[in-house]
Amino acid sequence: MDYNSQRKPFFYDITLRDGNQALKKPWNTDQKEIIFKELVKLGVQAVEVGFSGSSDMDFEACQRLASIAPDNIVIAGLARAVEKDIIKVAEAIKSANKPRIHTFIAMSPFNMKYVLKKDPMDVRKTAVEAIKYAKSLMGEKGEVQFSVEHFGDCADNLNFVIDSLHECIEAGATTINLPNTVERNRPFELIRLVEKVKMALPDNIIISAHNHNDLGMATATTVESYFVGATQLECSLNGLGERAGNTNMYEVAIALHNSGVEVPLNLSQIYETAILTAEMANVPICEKAPLIGEDALAHRSGIHQDGAVKTQNMKKGAYRPIHPSLIGRDDAEKYGFTSQSGKTALYEIIKSKGYPITVEETIRLVPIAKEQAEKYGELPVESIEDIYIKEIFEVDGPFKFISFKKADNTDNDIFNLKFSYKGQEYNETAEGDGPLETCLNALEKAGFRQKLVHYEQAAFGEETKGAQADAMTVIQFETQDGKVITCRGKDPSTQKANVKAIFNGLNLIYTE
Ligand code: KIV
Ligand code: ZN
Repeated sequence: MDYNSQRKPFFYDITLRDGNQALKKPWNTDQKEIIFKELVKLGVQAVEVGFSGSSDMDFEACQRLASIAPDNIVIAGLARAVEKDIIKVAEAIKSANKPRIHTFIAMSPFNMKYVLKKDPMDVRKTAVEAIKYAKSLMGEKGEVQFSVEHFGDCADNLNFVIDSLHECIEAGATTINLPNTVERNRPFELIRLVEKVKMALPDNIIISAHNHNDLGMATATTVESYFVGATQLECSLNGLGERAGNTNMYEVAIALHNSGVEVPLNLSQIYETAILTAEMANVPICEKAPLIGEDALAHRSGIHQDGAVKTQNMKKGAYRPIHPSLIGRDDAEKYGFTSQSGKTALYEIIKSKGYPITVEETIRLVPIAKEQAEKYGELPVESIEDIYIKEIFEVDGPFKFISFKKADNTDNDIFNLKFSYKGQEYNETAEGDGPLETCLNALEKAGFRQKLVHYEQAAFGEETKGAQADAMTVIQFETQDGKVITCRGKDPSTQKANVKAIFNGLNLIYTE
């Protein structure tokens, strides 16, 4: 059967109930209201606002949220299949435009026998009576949802469950929730059961998926449940919920979106919601959490960095499931330089700090950065900046610059250059067209002729120093074997920047 044609998923949030009941300090009314407003911005279709029978505080919270809920959102409250819980929910959510009582009882053989200690037929009767009662309180305005708690453990009594569900529907339930209350098996086991129930029940009944994440596969189970007919997807923000949590709403939404399903949520709201929820719940987001984790956009291996950079402005990236902006993340993909990284990351990091560098220059820095990364692990950006300044602007080698001064007080460009090469001092006076040419002429006189093929000067550090920016000279020399070497010098004085660039170039050439 094709259940997928144009069927919009219905996002039913359980953060304020299943998520909240698992918090070390459950939220009070004001805190719940903050999360609720975030859920409204996210655009969920239904919110289970709480378990009003569990405490006076939760009853009050459910009442408040029901009273401020927009008309288009279903407001549900959870009740055990007992009269007093059902009354509490009905009372708490009565001001909502779309109220729903969600009642449940376990139907797995194990739970009925050892926890409820009840005969299956009694369990069925309890469920049916609870639904009838809830329906009588909801009247025409509201709905009743029924959950088969521990449905994931019902493979051996599925026929009993299906027969019971027919009676539950007869009693007034319109949404049937099939929770994997404890995730014990592979997703396919549960999906097969969901599909069987879907096929056995009338088409107008909404099938709902509610999966706990004990083995880390709740997202997969929920997504695949959708494709076998579950329309209502019960998820929580940041995956909050009992034990290892519930199904993470963001992962389900994005997986469906990537599968071409129209997802009725404001996806760009996800990241903001995740950060706020983590703060409110006092449950930090794991740095490796899919989509929202701090490190979820980081690339550290050279191959991944290369692919990521080549596709970073494209909608589809080589090494990411989505463009981060889809979920409202404005931080871009990050490149961390480790001993496993390569030139692409180094180039990107240096460029991202506003520094000029060529690919050839980057290649020269890679072994130096790798050596440090091997010792210390991922290099902080400041360490990379230090390497860059040292290796590009203070190149070590056999040449040591001493001084470059005008040799007379005429207008002619006659300069005296002092420097040493391998410890031997040189002192040459030369003339030329401007200080740069004069410096090169003085070097030629000392026996170190260089062929200049490119020269330019620009400001360096404008972004950080503003008007105080250094002058930067970029020079290219062509060596005897035809290789072009790029070298740079920076100094507040343009003339000194030129001379420094020349000596950095000499040290590069003569070190090679
Ligand atoms: O996990 C579960 O079975 C539940 C039910 C109460 C729906 O949370
Ligand atoms: Zn649950």
